[in-house]
Amino acid sequence: MFNFDELHNRKNTNSLKWDLFKERYKAQFKIADASDILPMWVADMDFAIPQVITDAIKERLDHPIFGYSYVSDACKDSIKNWFSRRHDWTIDTNTILFHQGVVPALATIIETFTQPGDKICVSTPIYPPFFSIPSVQKREVVENLLITTDDDFEYDFADLEEQFKTGVKVYILCSPHNPGGKVWSKEDLEKLVQLCIQYDVLLVSDEIHADIVFDGFKHIPTLTVKDADKAKIITCIAPTKTFNIAGIHAAMMVVPNVELRNKLALNKAEHGRDDLNILAAAAVKAAYEQGEEWVDAMIAYVSNNMDYVVEQLNQLEGIRVTKPQSTYLIWIDYRDTGLSEDEMMLRLLEKGKLAIEPGTKYTEAGRGFLRMNVACPFETVKDGVERFKKALL
Ligand SMILES: Cc1ncc(COP(=O)(O)O)c(C=O)c1O
Repeated sequence: MFNFDELHNRKNTNSLKWDLFKERYKAQFKIADASDILPMWVADMDFAIPQVITDAIKERLDHPIFGYSYVSDACKDSIKNWFSRRHDWTIDTNTILFHQGVVPALATIIETFTQPGDKICVSTPIYPPFFSIPSVQKREVVENLLITTDDDFEYDFADLEEQFKTGVKVYILCSPHNPGGKVWSKEDLEKLVQLCIQYDVLLVSDEIHADIVFDGFKHIPTLTVKDADKAKIITCIAPTKTFNIAGIHAAMMVVPNVELRNKLALNKAEHGRDDLNILAAAAVKAAYEQGEEWVDAMIAYVSNNMDYVVEQLNQLEGIRVTKPQSTYLIWIDYRDTGLSEDEMMLRLLEKGKLAIEPGTKYTEAGRGFLRMNVACPFETVKDGVERFKKALL
């Protein structure tokens, strides 16, 4: 029904993943020739999006006027219904604020609720904007290291509490976790919420990866756990990873606390930060109303890709990989190869002709790891694996 095997040529489409990476990698790793490199880095998919979304955008394009618009109640209901069906989470649509993306939303939240010099805590390794945005805004980023066990991640809650005691204002949670793909347990989330209540920390829960979770695991929205109503929580959600529409730009902040919501709404108004554009709103509504079968099929396909990559890479000396619990990103441990990050990246780029992400992009805690994106046709995945093997020869 959906053809995830189909190869789409994304070159010359102004794609970050396929067109822009060459200059970046060339400059960062000083490689002479960046041609013929296979990009498996930034988090978007090489699959065609669900036809229902394309149809909805086309339908809107048929009307010749694109004047000022607002997000319809039907679109808001589509969001509510999706999260209720897929995550057992009832969202009051009045508590939703729209934004152009989760990263812009994080920036707005930090700007609204903190001052320069305030402490923002993140658990590392972590998606780079979690520390780069607060740093640019001159906030102090404090780091809580995740404990990496053989095949999993765990919170070091004792360390987190020590950090909170020093006067942390905001904690940014990545749930599920990028780059590790960890689906946090109810107990983890409850503990986090309790700590945030105890130390009066604003908990920002980035749940952009919530929908792509593999068999045996279940994403738990932070706002549904015990005592969430007693904490200060803002949850960011989006259809952009789930449906491969990052270029459309759309995200939602769910803010049940009226005081927080009013402050955020005021900040948005002060800066003219608008809601969704007319085509994004059409895409969001179609995705959440009609995209469900595509998502289920995509998850099954990506899960097979994961199994293949894990099985293949684990045969390589010094490489250790565990299938992640969620996301289409694999976190690869190469510490036992003895290679430095520069050596590994040069081998991958020059010998293997493969572009994947170096672990230190996710802070120093990621040293010795790589992040590989397997949301692509199986043929591409196989090609990527062969390139990886060649790099290590
Ligand atoms: C945890 C996390 N948050 C946010 C984003 C990006 O969100 P947006 O494109 O809506 O700004 C990503 C993209 O990879 C991500 O992994």
